[in-house]
Amino acid sequence: MTLIAQISDTHIRQPGELIEGKIDTFEYLVTCIDRINALPQRPDIVIASGDLADSGAASEYRRLKSQLDRLNMPYTVMPGNHDTRAGLREVFGNLPALPVVSGGYLQYTIELPVLRVICLDTLDEGKEGGWLCIERLDWLRSQLASSHNPVMIFLHHPPFDCGIPGMDQIRLGNPDALAEALKIHKQVIGLACGHVHRGVFTQWAGIPACICPSPAHQIHLDTRPDSPLAWTLEPGGFLLHYLNGHTLTSHVVNGPAPIETIYD
Ligand SMILES: [Fe+2]
Repeated sequence: MTLIAQISDTHIRQPGELIEGKIDTFEYLVTCIDRINALPQRPDIVIASGDLADSGAASEYRRLKSQLDRLNMPYTVMPGNHDTRAGLREVFGNLPALPVVSGGYLQYTIELPVLRVICLDTLDEGKEGGWLCIERLDWLRSQLASSHNPVMIFLHHPPFDCGIPGMDQIRLGNPDALAEALKIHKQVIGLACGHVHRGVFTQWAGIPACICPSPAHQIHLDTRPDSPLAWTLEPGGFLLHYLNGHTLTSHVVNGPAPIETIYD
């Protein structure tokens, strides 16, 4: 049995700097870290799947790290479009949190007892949408070819539409190239993304796929073709991926740790 907690889109800023003048993302991160630490069964790892800092400054990553370091289990960080590889490397580069750097990209493989986790770098610097270049796709192919263990892939930008037009315009720009790389590898049991600030579940390229909410603000669920992009303060949270054999089940978890009452 394997448990992976996924957090995403924490958008940490400097103290006193609020997103849209209203959202204290740091406060939500504190609640999220407390909740993960309070889970009855400790996850094997926490994966933070991009847009971790809001501007990508090293000072924001240091603020993020002050909270991630409170986790009772190992964690790892990945880039999203708001991140900078230089900032992530500066703050997390010498830690097991960022295990292997491949070329200039921050993508790497984590071996858990019965699962290989592949974290992809979809950052296309200066753009909101994501991209996987030939070098990154070739690296993915080599990782997939070298093991028959079940594989779970994490990437910031979803390769599929979620139905919110403003987010679908900035998803992964070349999903067909990713689908092609995955086509012959039947051991991929799941694909987990961020970017959209909502809990979303689908099938893509024959693989179960999901998107993690943000612990802070969510993107408004408006699927009309001309809808403006908007944010809300609906409950956010994180995902807890539970792997039993080859079956992956993902839970949306939000709010502070609840008080449970055992049935009489
Ligand atoms: Fe993003």
